[in-house]
Amino acid sequence: MELDPEIADRFAAVDDHLDTVFGLDHAYSEVLRRSDEAMLPTIAVSSSVGRLLQVLVAAMGARRVLEIGTLGGYSTLWLARALPKDGQVVSLEFNPHHADVARANLASAGVGGRVEIRVGDAHASLAALIERDVAPFDLAFIDADKESYPEYLDAVVALSRPGSLIVADNVVRGGRIIERHRDDEMLQGIRVFNEALAEHPAIGPASIMQIVGHKGYDGLAFGVVTDPSARR
Ligand code: SAH
Ligand code: DHB
Ligand code: MG
Repeated sequence: MELDPEIADRFAAVDDHLDTVFGLDHAYSEVLRRSDEAMLPTIAVSSSVGRLLQVLVAAMGARRVLEIGTLGGYSTLWLARALPKDGQVVSLEFNPHHADVARANLASAGVGGRVEIRVGDAHASLAALIERDVAPFDLAFIDADKESYPEYLDAVVALSRPGSLIVADNVVRGGRIIERHRDDEMLQGIRVFNEALAEHPAIGPASIMQIVGHKGYDGLAFGVVTDPSARR
């Protein structure tokens, strides 16, 4: 489904308006500018979603955040800036060029010391984190390859503590998730993820919110881990 251009313009204009209401520090636009310059795809979260991530980090009193899908470090910067000085974001990225751009961006923005980018397939990086028995994450943000969302959900649950929050981007995809018979691996991955989130024995309260703005029409998923040892 394509959005009516007039409606799409209005959604984008409201996102712009909200940037004037809240203010948007130069550091965020710099990350996007340098990501564009380095030819990265323009698929970072919107500033409104960035601010929501900060609300969640602050509300959780999070110290340890896990991100799957760094790109140029835009969402990473929103997350890192909401953390206390001794907080940490571990961000997983498959593409070494994206990781290089993100590292430079985050260093320039002054949060390089609070972010660890691990280059490699997130499946392997997650398995390594689980294997090493690292301290649990307070919040996890899933935003990489959509086909893998169901597997990422299970891995992130295993890296949680009771009360950890899981957030996932792009779970509505212009409403296409209701097109049950669509033969699209990304959509199938998201549909399975959404159902797994709803039914997961490790997860208590959960919700999916539809979101509009500069990026059109998509959605964010939220779930609170109540029993990290439970497996589906
Ligand atoms: N969170 C970013 C956007 C991430 S875009 C932001 O909002 O600013 C998705 C990223 O996931 C891309 O950089 C892509 O290279 C990465 N990715 C795709 N498949 C991956 C995988 N299997 N493991 C790790 N990262 C992956
Ligand atoms: C797209 C958007 C995203 O936010 C993302 O993480 C991956 C892909 C897209 O619109 O293609
Ligand atoms: Mg995304």
